[in-house]
Amino acid sequence: MRIVSGMRPTGKLHLGHYLGVIKNWIKLQKEYDSFFFVADWHALSTKYDEGLDLKELSIELVKDWVACGIEDATIFIQSEIKEHSELYLILNMITPVSWLERNPTYKDALSQPEYKEKNNAGFLTYPVLQTADIILYDANLVPIGEDQKPHLEIAREIVRRFHYLFKQEIFIEPKELLTQTPRLPGIDGRKMSKSYNNAIFLDESEEGIWQKVRQAKTDPARIKKTDPGHPEVCIVYEYHKIFSDDVEEIKSACEAGSIGCVECKKRCAKNINKVLAPIRERKASLKEDDILDIIEKGNKKAKEIASKKMEEVNKLIF
Ligand code: TRP
Repeated sequence: MRIVSGMRPTGKLHLGHYLGVIKNWIKLQKEYDSFFFVADWHALSTKYDEGLDLKELSIELVKDWVACGIEDATIFIQSEIKEHSELYLILNMITPVSWLERNPTYKDALSQPEYKEKNNAGFLTYPVLQTADIILYDANLVPIGEDQKPHLEIAREIVRRFHYLFKQEIFIEPKELLTQTPRLPGIDGRKMSKSYNNAIFLDESEEGIWQKVRQAKTDPARIKKTDPGHPEVCIVYEYHKIFSDDVEEIKSACEAGSIGCVECKKRCAKNINKVLAPIRERKASLKEDDILDIIEKGNKKAKEIASKKMEEVNKLIF
């Protein structure tokens, strides 16, 4: 069984990415023939006007993956495999615009003012490119988050339409592989995101982690240490739930007013650092050349599979 998944290179990875995506990939790479790629064309679909250094961001992203423990997978860069764009073009020919216009992620974005004025063709057809990414490799399963489910639905619809129009079943209808991951809020309680300035990054130093956790929102009703706390409204408690073995003890101590927020945060930062320290150290020891080698090897393997598939496609159509 093969899996394919991608991530857009839009900036440094944080704990949210680690818990939501990478940890899952680390497990899956042992169970499946895994292809993980940098979706740099997809990044361009919304960020074409931000002057991103996509090459550098892509290498950095792969470095983070490797530092986290991705080692049994084919890692490649989307824009290096031109077959993605070729298949995207063909799929665009057979995909009704109405399917794309009713895509919930597209509709959500359009309702936000900053996207409304963009509304570029590449953003509308984002799921078509995503479909090409997946079906080029005969992926059976696609590890994704809940928000990407509509894209997989579109992918299957496109595959069925292709098979119907060209009268031969040459692709696999991909299924999503949804995994339950804990929701990790940023230090201000909103979704963790670089753009909200509330993220704890993977390469954060020990001191950096402490500074972030120190600022995290706690129970506003707790002013003195002896005030009974309400862990369920405290961001630090959310972190303890994920990173601390002694979460029950911390909860009761907070509720009893016997542990202060500073002490509680110190323990929390220490436990987060236990997870991040090995990643940070591994990242610091990785050489750029080794990362480039991994990418080159992955690109070569991806290219072989993708070009065979495109031969098949072109033979069928032309
Ligand atoms: N759209 C995905 C995201 O934003 C990234 C992505 C691009 C992807 N192509 C893919 C994921 C193919 C899985 C398979 O998270």
